[in-house]
Amino acid sequence: MPNNNSSNKFDPSYHANSVRRVHSIAKQMSPPAATSFTAEVVPQAPEDPLFGLMRAFKADESPDKVDLGIGAYRDNNAKPWVLPVVKKADEALRNDPELNHEYAPIAGLPFFTSKAAELILGGADSPAIKEKRVTSVQTISGTGAVHLGALFLARYWTGNKKVYISNPTWANHNQIFGNVNVPIAQYPYFSKETKGLDFDGMKSAILGAPDRSIILLHACAHNPTGVDPTFEQWKEIAQIMRSKNHFPFFDCAYQGFATGDLMKDNLAVRHFVELGFELVIAQSFAKNFGLYGERAGCFHAVTGPASDAESTITPFRDLQPSLYGARIAGTVMNDAKLFAEWEENLRTMSGRIIDMRKSLRAKLEELGTPGTWNHITDQIGMFSFTGLSEAQVMKIRSDAHVYMTKNGRISMAGLNTGNIDYFAKAMDKVVRDTQ
Ligand SMILES: Cc1ncc(COP(=O)(O)O)c(C=O)c1O
Repeated sequence: MPNNNSSNKFDPSYHANSVRRVHSIAKQMSPPAATSFTAEVVPQAPEDPLFGLMRAFKADESPDKVDLGIGAYRDNNAKPWVLPVVKKADEALRNDPELNHEYAPIAGLPFFTSKAAELILGGADSPAIKEKRVTSVQTISGTGAVHLGALFLARYWTGNKKVYISNPTWANHNQIFGNVNVPIAQYPYFSKETKGLDFDGMKSAILGAPDRSIILLHACAHNPTGVDPTFEQWKEIAQIMRSKNHFPFFDCAYQGFATGDLMKDNLAVRHFVELGFELVIAQSFAKNFGLYGERAGCFHAVTGPASDAESTITPFRDLQPSLYGARIAGTVMNDAKLFAEWEENLRTMSGRIIDMRKSLRAKLEELGTPGTWNHITDQIGMFSFTGLSEAQVMKIRSDAHVYMTKNGRISMAGLNTGNIDYFAKAMDKVVRDTQ
């Protein structure tokens, strides 16, 4: 808007004088320090091993190379898969004349968070939902939810402020709890002998932890091992945790992706809720909707009957969630027809992975590869702990251009009918060569 006040008119000579004065003051001040944030002050984070692996894979020019590092679903042509139901929801959203880009409500989109709670707690009939003991906040995918939970407990948990995580676990758990200064201890989880659950080790560590410790549990499809407790084992874990008044922190990144059945994959969470535990849940929609980069997630706090659940996590409603992924997931979860189609899509993904497990095991057994291979089909979800040593992992990489993490974890989604023969033979060779 034009300014008619003559005293506010731009005067070039006055401006030049001001600039000269500022320069002369600046000259008399001491020179700026190089940086306040030197490497001693801000230590460089180690490179994410998965990104390093991805880079090495990209640089490999072999036509035979196989990427088993990726933590995302691939179809049988080794391509990312946009779920057909996601395409439908996306189209419906784009054609909605009412859609706009206003800010989301501070705790996220209620039509998304309420259905997210029902999904993980087993429906609107969950005692926690009926008794209004659940507070949900939309987060930046599962990582944001784990972070929010860690921050919440760092501030307000009055028990033993130490979190017990499985050995091994998803690497980010260490970083996230470290960032909010919650000390970390480990409980044994994986048995190298059976390549299954070290149940005795897990139980005795949980029993040995001081009363009221935080125990982080993978709700299903444990990352990185693919090993889950059976339901009977979950019941025992719950009993021990109850006797010690421990606090369960469920990380759920693979509901529906593990067995293909949403209600099977939330069984452990439902059991703990039925027993009346107060607990928190970090929920990701990255894998089960294939919405990896859209960052749709939710944090839920299930509190006891005397609580004012509504206010439980209000201090943390400070980050505006992003909309797109939650709109897609919310659209699907609120529409019976789309929901059924989503379940079908989940069965396609989990079914393909289960087929790959069966096929890999059969091929290794056919080849007579030394060792036992039942763990390949006993394990579940995206990942499998093959049992290959770090030396074998490096050898299969240099000899056969097969890329997996150093702990011998393979992403089952990286296998397909086009490369599984090649991979089984490469596994067979590396096992024999290093015996
Ligand atoms: C155990 C576990 N928790 C949480 C996440 C969170 O993932 P995102 O932030 O992509 O939802 C992952 C993803 O790999 C995971 O494996």
